[in-house]
Amino acid sequence: MLSSSHMDLSDFRKEYSAKGLHRTDLDAHPLQQFTSWFQQAIELQVHEPNAMSLATVDEHGTPLLRTVLLKYFDAEGFVFFTNYESRKAQHIAHNPQVSLLFPWITLERQVIVQGRAEKISAAESFKYFTSRPRESQLGAWVSQQSSVVSSRQLLMQKLHEIGEKFKHGEIPLPSFWGGYRVVPQTIEFWQGGPARIHDRFLYTKQEEQWSIERLSP
Ligand SMILES: Cc1cc2nc3c(=O)[nH]c(=O)nc-3n(C[C@H](O)[C@H](O)[C@H](O)COP(=O)(O)O)c2cc1C
Repeated sequence: MLSSSHMDLSDFRKEYSAKGLHRTDLDAHPLQQFTSWFQQAIELQVHEPNAMSLATVDEHGTPLLRTVLLKYFDAEGFVFFTNYESRKAQHIAHNPQVSLLFPWITLERQVIVQGRAEKISAAESFKYFTSRPRESQLGAWVSQQSSVVSSRQLLMQKLHEIGEKFKHGEIPLPSFWGGYRVVPQTIEFWQGGPARIHDRFLYTKQEEQWSIERLSP
């Protein structure tokens, strides 16, 4: 007998594969479709379902991936937080076209987004920043993300200094830290199927409407 903390997901996955993904199951709005898949990923205990790969390109067009956490999403897009002077931020400043990938492999699913990354307002970032634990707020102040640092010790020393500086009262939002909203242009929902006949549906934004096409696996 398996305990609930060791739930075997293979049958769920099989069930999804067997059911397949049909055009009639899809919501007209991809963000609504994403909501149902995200909820299922939570229910079926996908590890860190909000961890996503973010692809950017540098000024030479060379791509780079890294993991970031989706903090919230709405009809407008997908929001993550980071350092506005980091390497990814420099890439985005040069070319705001990015791609996101949610690798929900245990469910035989992936969601792939293409879109434009836009900085959210400082007020919106502040709202999220204040909801974070104090150590995370201090951490945002300390790290000059993606720059070379001589030692961990130096970072710990800076953390201590910043902690002392902001000992009393609220920690202000660093001007170099905040969120990006990835405003989607296309979103693909990929569902693994038997005999490698997978289901792929591509939503493409056209004016204010979304078109939906089935792609060959
Ligand atoms: C599970 C996981 C979650 C992460 N979440 C974030 C995040 O939300 N924001 C962030 O800036 N970096 C996050 N990171 C670190 C990034 O992957 C990356 O190292 C960092 O943002 C620097 O990237 P860059 O040099 O390309 O700008 C996360 C890493 C992992 C493994």
